[in-house]
Amino acid sequence: MKVAVIGCGTIANAAHIPSYMNNTEAEIKYFCDILPERAKAAVEKYGCGTAVTDYHEVLNDPEIEAVSVCTPNNMHATIAIDALKAGKNVLCEKPAARTFAEALEMQKAQHESGKVLNIGVVNRFNDSVNKIKDYIDSGKLGEIYQVYASFRAHRSIPGLGGAFTTKAIAGGGALIDWGVHYLDIVMYCCGDPVVKTVTGQAFSKLGKAMEGYTYKNMWAGPPDYSGTYDVDDSVTAMIRTSGPVITVNGAWAQNIGEEEQFIDFMGDKAGIRLQYGKQFTVYTTEEGSLVSYTPDFNMTDMFQNEINSFIRCIQTGEKLPSHIDTVVITAEMMQAIYDSSEQQKEIALN
Ligand SMILES: NC(=O)c1ccc[n+]([C@@H]2O[C@H](COP(=O)([O-])OP(=O)(O)OC[C@H]3O[C@@H](n4cnc5c(N)ncnc54)[C@H](O)[C@@H]3O)[C@@H](O)[C@H]2O)c1
Repeated sequence: MKVAVIGCGTIANAAHIPSYMNNTEAEIKYFCDILPERAKAAVEKYGCGTAVTDYHEVLNDPEIEAVSVCTPNNMHATIAIDALKAGKNVLCEKPAARTFAEALEMQKAQHESGKVLNIGVVNRFNDSVNKIKDYIDSGKLGEIYQVYASFRAHRSIPGLGGAFTTKAIAGGGALIDWGVHYLDIVMYCCGDPVVKTVTGQAFSKLGKAMEGYTYKNMWAGPPDYSGTYDVDDSVTAMIRTSGPVITVNGAWAQNIGEEEQFIDFMGDKAGIRLQYGKQFTVYTTEEGSLVSYTPDFNMTDMFQNEINSFIRCIQTGEKLPSHIDTVVITAEMMQAIYDSSEQQKEIALN
């Protein structure tokens, strides 16, 4: 299957390209980036494909069956919709889009084209996450009444002044960039419950006075003090669903040195703490004692699983858990958190 990677930056090189290279069914025909040197560097590094700068060139090639969209968030909807209309199957990086409205446009284009549109909610292909889903589905935890997600860093604003901190490009900050993964894991493990109400507050505090932002390291590039910082660097929210109540605290940056990245699933029979991207621990009682254990298993590469599943679902017609139909729910939740914050009130959804 001939595929193309559109956007040849960090996530393309760290995950999509190597995973396609490892998949015997896929062959990368194009590396596309508006920066020609990035597309050319990929051709040289991986020893295959042609470098192009305009994604329309990829979409005009009838041999191309599938594309990965690995551009900044502002181009997700445009490129994914154009690709679907051109009859291509699409794996688009997370978040689906900058806003719920854009995500709905993508879903509409998917329904109209009948082609695949999966979003890079890669944790749905993570072994720990899938085991937790099995624990919950089997009833081992009893009723899950609350889930608490915490993704808090001391100083981790990415590329201050660049694409990640410019609302017009990214759509938001810590919530849309990191929170999307956490909310997605919760929704997936809990069977995508119906979202009822959302109360949230997003803060844009530590990055705002850009030159005063103190840090040790910065991912996604050095600061551009002439750039823009108009996104959230921390967020708190409470979401009522037809399943558990979800509470969230997240920060790219905060004046507390603790770095924590976990999700607690609170059941009335047992609870689970998932360390993001790692193992999980089960807490329960047994014969009058408090018991906890951390299952040990071989953890496979979730990005490889995601790409393999994408290629397979194009061949088989199988609907994956990362289908746009499930991801729009998280997009709606994040939109409601931002709306609640702006309007200073609770948002009722269903
Ligand atoms: N799944 C994950 O865990 C994960 C991790 C990192 C990033 N991401 C997502 O991946 C996306 C890209 O992030 P990144 O860190 O790789 O960014 P990046 O800036 O490193 O790479 C993006 C690339 O897209 C190119 N580009 C921009 N507009 C383009 C266009 N119109 N056509 C072709 N190329 C274009 C840029 O020149 C750049 O090379 C973002 O949406 C981000 O949220 C997901």
